[in-house]
This record gives sequence, C-alpha cells and structure tokens, in this order.
Amino acid sequence: MARKRNKPELLPPDPEAGREIPIDREELVVIREPRSDLAEHYRRLRSSVEALNPDGAPRTVMVTSPLPNEGKSVASLNLALAICERPRARVIVIEADLRRPSIEEYLELPRAQGLAEVLQGKLGLERAIRKTSEEGLDVMGAGTPPANPSKVLRIDRLKTILHALKQRYDYVIIDSAPAHAFTDASVVGSVSDGILLVVKLTATPKHLVEEVVSQLESAGGNVLGVCLLGAKTFAPAYDYQ
Ligand SMILES: Nc1ncnc2c1ncn2[C@@H]1O[C@H](COP(=O)(O)OP(=O)(O)O)[C@@H](O)[C@H]1O
Ligand SMILES: [Mg+2]
Repeated sequence: MARKRNKPELLPPDPEAGREIPIDREELVVIREPRSDLAEHYRRLRSSVEALNPDGAPRTVMVTSPLPNEGKSVASLNLALAICERPRARVIVIEADLRRPSIEEYLELPRAQGLAEVLQGKLGLERAIRKTSEEGLDVMGAGTPPANPSKVLRIDRLKTILHALKQRYDYVIIDSAPAHAFTDASVVGSVSDGILLVVKLTATPKHLVEEVVSQLESAGGNVLGVCLLGAKTFAPAYDYQ
C-alpha cells in the first residue's frame, strides 16, 4: 500500500491579521443575512444552548454530525456568531476536524499552525489564537494535518487546552470530524460540556443518527440535541419586519 506523503508544515499564525478580514461568506448567514429565517434558526439554537446553561458558566460545546458535508463547520461558525450578538460575549471556535479542516476557508484566513501544533507541544496556546473582524469572536485553526489525527487528539492535552480556554471565553465551540467514520468526535466529545449533532435531513439515515448518539454517549459525551438542516419548509420563529 502506498504511504501517504506528509503535508508541508504550516507557519505560526499572525494573531491580529484576521481583524482586517471581513466575514463575508454567504453560508455565514448570521452576518450575511441577519434577517433571514436561517439566521433566526441559529439564534434559536443559541437560545437553546443558553437555556441549558442557566448560570451562564463558561461552556465547551462540540459540534459534530454522522457524515462529512452535513454542515458542521458552517453551523459552528453561525452558532458562534449568534452568541457574539450578545453584549460582551467572548467566543472561540476551535477547528478539531484535523482531517478536513475548513474554518479558515470560511473566514478567508490563511492556513496556519493551530490545534494540531498545540496538541503536539509545538506551539503555545496563546500563539494559536487568532482574532477575527467580529467583536468577541476568536478562532483556532486545525493546523498542519497530522498523519494520524487519532494519536494527536489526546484526552489529557485536550482537557488542559479546554480548561485554559474556559478561563477566557464564555463559549468554546469545537468543530469536529464526522462521528460515524472516526473516533475523533467521541474523544473530543468526552471532554466537552455538551455535544450538538448536525443532521442534514435529506442525507442522513435515521439509524445512523441513533448509532452516532449512542456512540458519543457511551464514550461519556453529553448530547444536548440535534440541529436539523436542509428542511424544505422552514417555519421562522417570527415573521415581523
Ligand atoms: N446554511 C448553509 N447555507 C448554504 N450552504 C451551506 C450551509 N451549510 C452548509 N452549507 C454547504 O454545505 C457544504 C458542507 O458544509 P460544511 O459546514 O463545510 O460541512 P462539514 O463541516 O459538516 O463537512 C458546504 O459546501 C457548505 O457551503
Ligand atoms: Mg467541517
């Protein structure tokens, strides 16, 4: 079998460069289409997450889905942006999908070192955190894709990183790999306060959703709920202009 060639190492990020880069991708509806039904959907998701946290303590929330391409990264960012609409909210989105990262692409930031390097002790946590142009929103990219992500995603290191981030942020939103094919999401979910499952209605069979919920829970994860995407008829919460 042919061995995979290692990807070239990335450079450390410029923590401030993102301040100058507007968040402008059309998928990021909370900013691009703030009055749309879909933006309201993410605000309702925010309210549901907040309702589960009545004392307002800092929380880590992992977002996963059974399959790739269901909308995890877009949902993670829109949820974070919706939380950032709250006065003085501090949120960080961490890309823990070390296999197919896309957070930097959605934010139009250059690829740089990130979580993978922090987990491997090659980059300090502070150096991996990047500002965005949105007040209160920081991000940490995935970094250089490791040859074996499962080996890099170590529970003890993840715990230390998340504990440190909870000192600084109200919410740590962790975008992760799809849960059905890999154990990554089970590992990250086991050290997160809660898990949101993104499910694309037209793409994901029900039995797969059930399997993934039980997989995440048996690893010690706390599944908060399911965020359904792709419904044809979407009932907005409010219809006022
Ligand atoms: N709300 C949305 N509106 C439009 N396109 C979306 C939306 N959410 C996801 N997509 C599209 O679906 C695809 C997968 O989304 P992504 O969040 O990157 O998936 P995942 O992280 O689960 O692999 C992308 O092409 C993205 O543009
Ligand atoms: Mg993704």
